[in-house]
Amino acid sequence: MAKSKVKVAVLISGRGSNLQSLIDACANEDFPAEIVAVISNVPDVYGLERAQNVGIEAHAIDHKSYESRENFESALIAKLQSYDADIVCLAGFMRILTPSFIDGLNASIINIHPSLLPKHKGLNTHARAIEAGDTEAGCSVHHVVADLDSGDVIVQKRVPVEKGDTAEALAARVLVQEHLAYPEALESLAKQLLDQ
Ligand code: GRF
Repeated sequence: MAKSKVKVAVLISGRGSNLQSLIDACANEDFPAEIVAVISNVPDVYGLERAQNVGIEAHAIDHKSYESRENFESALIAKLQSYDADIVCLAGFMRILTPSFIDGLNASIINIHPSLLPKHKGLNTHARAIEAGDTEAGCSVHHVVADLDSGDVIVQKRVPVEKGDTAEALAARVLVQEHLAYPEALESLAKQLLDQ
């Protein structure tokens, strides 16, 4: 790839703290990626404001205004293709993507998941880690494949589960690590694409 930065689009559904960690990393001129667009499937979320605050184009594509998942995904694909994104980062994006979206998009898709995959795929990961008596929890940045939360892991960070932890306390401890893991994973994938 004969360019110095890969183009990244970030998909969100909410407050966008992971998006912010990517924005902050990309602000470094040596970072091998730039964010060209942020898209939320929920209108008026704080993550969109975070993008606008730093002059990144931000769009809401509200899944509720589409009759079917396919129509919603077609709109999403059209928007992503208009930016020619090389990498799509899912950052707290709370819609499951269909295999035809994943295969149809000409970009690498990565996601951050708040567990030590392959443990605790899906929702409520922190409560499930506590319930299971796990002594460690954490987060994983992984490639997105058709099977939910099952693609190869790029970066994983661990935290201890402490005695008396609530799901909220554990989530807060893991989130600190998410903000380190996502930029690290993006940097590694971006470098790999630039070297190809
Ligand atoms: C993060 O914990 C992420 O791992 C999970 O949803 C949360 C999103 O947080 N999938 P934010 O919107 O990035 O602040």
